[in-house]
Amino acid sequence: MAQYNFDEIIDRSGTNCIKYDFIGDYFGENNLIPMWVADMDFRTPDFVMDAIRTRASHEILGYSKRPDSFYDATIQWYRRRQNWTIEKEWIIFTPGIVPALYFAVRAFSDSGDKVIIQPPVYHPFFSVISSNQRQVLMNPLKLRKNKYFMDFENLENIIDRETKLLILCHPHNPVGRVWSAEELTQLGIICKKNGIIIISDEIHSDLVLPGFKHTPLASLEGNFRDITTTCIAPSKTFNIAGLSTSLVIIPDPDLREKFKYEIENSHLWLGNIFGNVALEAAYTSGDEWLDQLLVYLQQNFSFLEGYLKQFIPEIKLITPEATYLAWLDMRDFKLPDSDLKDFMIRKAGLACNDGASFGKEGHGFQRMNIACPKALLEKALHQLRIAVNSL
Ligand SMILES: Cc1ncc(COP(=O)(O)O)c(C=O)c1O
Repeated sequence: MAQYNFDEIIDRSGTNCIKYDFIGDYFGENNLIPMWVADMDFRTPDFVMDAIRTRASHEILGYSKRPDSFYDATIQWYRRRQNWTIEKEWIIFTPGIVPALYFAVRAFSDSGDKVIIQPPVYHPFFSVISSNQRQVLMNPLKLRKNKYFMDFENLENIIDRETKLLILCHPHNPVGRVWSAEELTQLGIICKKNGIIIISDEIHSDLVLPGFKHTPLASLEGNFRDITTTCIAPSKTFNIAGLSTSLVIIPDPDLREKFKYEIENSHLWLGNIFGNVALEAAYTSGDEWLDQLLVYLQQNFSFLEGYLKQFIPEIKLITPEATYLAWLDMRDFKLPDSDLKDFMIRKAGLACNDGASFGKEGHGFQRMNIACPKALLEKALHQLRIAVNSL
């Protein structure tokens, strides 16, 4: 069995990666530890790189289509990893999940309609609605005893005749929840009863920590698949976000036609040949690498939790169930957002995502990306501890 080394420190600077090379544009300073953009500081796995190199060795990079083996690899991966049976014709290529969300909003609603999101949530969820001239309808998550929940009572109250869609983040970025089958069923029943289509963003669904289980919404009993568009991708899982390759799964033929209309009319179906071979290699050979990655991420989370408890008890980690994004509750410092942001950048020397960028429910929080070698996480926490002591 191959043993992968996630401790290796790789210098990413000079590669034009946003996380390192463009840090100054976003934070106003360059000398920060980058713990923001949601990609990983780990090497993209060897079997993915080999597939890309093999394809690159044929030096004509013309127009190409995705072969049957591309779809087979996807179908087998989801059957193996998530016990979900997908059919080939349900699968539609998109050059990223945010574009998929944008086109799904266009395909399934009209200008002026309301689209529900559950903040604090990944910030483009807001913009894909408003930039399509739809109205954002919020059903904020509830925080109880260090864990977030969906507010079904409020959801039923806010739905009206103009409400057409709900964008679900499953697992949820930034709070790290893996929604249970019971929660998803309750959500599905409410949406079905009210004629609401669900766009389920499951981009983080492979990154579920040991001990937790992801259930695709569309795989549940109750025929929620008729109202569900599921967004999936190997991009987060295998650190290939720069290849802009993802998929949307739509079992219902009418919804599928509407979505395809958007993608085909904008001529975005082609994708790129390196993304195609990378996806196929990842979904064919990625199990062992992913299982080892998840153990490493779990260890980083445990280290973070232990460190905070011992040295910075004012900061609380919301118990992570999935993703590599730690959601840190820093409300004890009682700092206004601009001061908290300033503190993280100028005092701690860290580039984390500001909680408030995920909606006003994120005030007083910071999102820290822990998909890095433990040594870097250790250094970051040491800087944070010194900064807190100076307060
Ligand atoms: C929930 C969620 N959806 C989508 C994306 C981005 O997807 P893409 O880069 O494929 O547009 C992210 C990235 O962090 C995310 O967390």
